Amino acid sequence: MRKRSALALLGFLALLASALAARAVAETAGSAEEMKQALADYGCIACHGEAEVRIGPPFDAIARRYSAATDEQIYVLTRKVLRGGAGNWGIVPMNAQPDLPSAEAARLVTWIIGQGAAGTR
Ligand code: HEC
Repeated sequence: MRKRSALALLGFLALLASALAARAVAETAGSAEEMKQALADYGCIACHGEAEVRIGPPFDAIARRYSAATDEQIYVLTRKVLRGGAGNWGIVPMNAQPDLPSAEAARLVTWIIGQGAAGTR
């Protein structure tokens, strides 16, 4: 039991570290074109439009909701993109993305919600 929670904590810290590292990267790198290409390459845009509702909420609505996101919220969102989940926007679940590297997930999430703060949409 104790070993399991220690492992869970280690997993959390590793993911948090990659989220923070990715956040630093996202702030300095990744043009809009590059990030949009990544969202296309990873299949996100099958369910997410920039401004129109598809299967999931549009990225501009996500950006508005999380414009003041803390690092912890970014971690939670990153984990949700990786593992899937539902309940924040409706009953339709987002599927898990098991092949997406966690640092990449954090970079995408950070960029998506940064679009609201930057006011570029
Ligand atoms: C199969 C459809 C589908 C795909 C593919 C998909 N999403 Fe989603 N996504 C959803 C749905 C549906 C929701 C709303 C879930 C909810 O209500 O909590 C969502 C929610 C989100 C949220 C907000 C989560 C929250 O709790 O507010 C983010 C951020 C997000 N997606 C990012 C991504 C990224 C990045 C990718 C690509 C790696 C991706 N999504 C791929 C369907 C999808």
